[in-house]
Amino acid sequence: MRILITAGPTREPIDPVRFLSNRSSGRMGYALAEAAHAAGHEVLLISGPVTISPPLGVQLVRIETAREMYNAVQAHLPGCAAAIFSAAVADYRPAQAATQKIKKSATTLTLELERTEDILGSVRSQFAFTGFLVGFAAETENLIAHAQDKLQRKGCDLIIANDVSQSGIGFDSTENEVTLCFPLGKTTALPRQSKTALAHELIHIISSRIQSPASSI
Ligand code: CTP
Repeated sequence: MRILITAGPTREPIDPVRFLSNRSSGRMGYALAEAAHAAGHEVLLISGPVTISPPLGVQLVRIETAREMYNAVQAHLPGCAAAIFSAAVADYRPAQAATQKIKKSATTLTLELERTEDILGSVRSQFAFTGFLVGFAAETENLIAHAQDKLQRKGCDLIIANDVSQSGIGFDSTENEVTLCFPLGKTTALPRQSKTALAHELIHIISSRIQSPASSI
């Protein structure tokens, strides 16, 4: 089956030489793309700027901003059986990017930010996607409650929740420890492991759920 995966950070320009971004390495999304390809799926990877190499055999679409990622997802979602949103999309961008480099003058500088497109939140409501929808939730408190809420609000079939208050997992790490949140309040905790091993397990679980929706994996 065809699977769309988003990965990495976005960059939101302040002026021609500066941007707002985050520490996402793209490792989780790239590991998922590699695992999905290894499991025989056709993979479309929509990625923000990262330093790691794209997995062989995967179709890569490079983007920089949240708006570009939104447009790429909208364009490529038709025909996909599953979509996995692992990108760390900026929630805000400068309301106006300066066309020339901002020179220093006053002692303080205020940037006005505006909300970016909520890509995951648009998948059901705007893009009318009917396939299997997977989101990530990075939380520092009330992990399961926030993840279950996100699952419902965004119409997901699965939210992969990770507690980013713990060091050594999640953002910019090689390991991750997640709890899977399914509809009807069902949760499954997966042990701490490399993102590569976790990606294989996640692709197996997602494929099983698609083939047999009542599956208890
Ligand atoms: N996401 C997205 N587009 C955005 C922001 C996030 O597609 N503009 C996706 C991420 O890829 C991830 C999920 O949404 O799969 C959760 O991101 P998160 O930022 O944790 O969601 P919140 O912004 O916290 O959602 P809310 O503020 O509604 O709780």
